[in-house]
Amino acid sequence: MRGRPAPPPPRRRRHRGPRARAREPPPSPSPHTRRHEHSTPHPGYDARAAHEFAMEHGIAVRAIAVEVADAAEAFAECVRHGARPVLPPARLAGAEGEGAVTVSEVGLYGDAVLRWVSGDVGRTPFLPGYAAVGPPGPAGDFGVERLDHAVGNVPELVPVVEYLMRATGFHEFAEFTAEDVGTVDSGLNSMVLASDNEQVLLPVNEPTFGTRRKSQIQTYLEQHQGPGVQHMALRTGDIFRTVRAMRERTGRGGFDFMPRASAAYYRDLPARIGGALTADEYRACEELGILVDRDDQGVLLQLFTAPIGDRSAVFLEIIQRLCPAEERLRAEGRTGADAEVGGCGGFGKGNFSELFKSIEDYERTLDV
Ligand SMILES: [Fe+2]
Repeated sequence: MRGRPAPPPPRRRRHRGPRARAREPPPSPSPHTRRHEHSTPHPGYDARAAHEFAMEHGIAVRAIAVEVADAAEAFAECVRHGARPVLPPARLAGAEGEGAVTVSEVGLYGDAVLRWVSGDVGRTPFLPGYAAVGPPGPAGDFGVERLDHAVGNVPELVPVVEYLMRATGFHEFAEFTAEDVGTVDSGLNSMVLASDNEQVLLPVNEPTFGTRRKSQIQTYLEQHQGPGVQHMALRTGDIFRTVRAMRERTGRGGFDFMPRASAAYYRDLPARIGGALTADEYRACEELGILVDRDDQGVLLQLFTAPIGDRSAVFLEIIQRLCPAEERLRAEGRTGADAEVGGCGGFGKGNFSELFKSIEDYERTLDV
């Protein structure tokens, strides 16, 4: 033995309280401070504002993004012409291989904004700083090519249209009135705004009153709690393929669609549209519930989903435009947007009556 063993060290009293507290997560920051503690790739993102937007409008559209040559110049010009500034130009520097993008935002209507985007857009599927959270799901490619138009509902059409024309330089593309629409039960007035090249199309609706049933635009304004985007039309090159794929998934968490048009509608369709579609295509339209219309430039095939959120408000439209002028452009070697004639075939004015009947049928099931 080499002496007495050293006494054991004194047992330390366990201060359970402080240690236990230290293991607890820090208190949640208030909504007022939370937005300063998390970074986001989007400079305009504000968690508190996003939460308030969702509480007020439900699932709804906040921004319509348009690719432009210079988002900073677009912002400056719009604001100089009276646009409400929302997000001053901000540069999003990407990681290697992503490129840099500039975004800016001006007021559209209600709480929705027009977002200008320029720079290395399209080099990657996302804006710089965003990444896919996983591989694409089993849904695959539905054939949707791009946003064709985005429609807004507002209480008063003229002030909104005047604001947008002044602020953006867009021009009036076409106009519908209550007389055009043809139902006595769902009144609206509508105007379509278009960019210079008519690749950006922004129809705007207002409700009309004095009808037996409440205007579906008014129903939207109540459900959405104010002006906002009513629908986004997604353009496909093969609507039969796109809609068939979507309908196959309706029962598996996919989109529901508006009630189908009547058998009489499909019986009368070939006489109304003519030889632009084959007999098989007319049959496919009836099978899939696709509506068809035409104007002096081309033919429009369209189908509307049921409202996609928690309210009878925003929905999607799937469209295909059959346009002889576009076929000529493609034959000349043009591709993409350069081979498109904006709004060719119209927006389905000839189907408004049928569409509104189906919206009314749908709304009757909701008691709104
Ligand atoms: Fe539409």
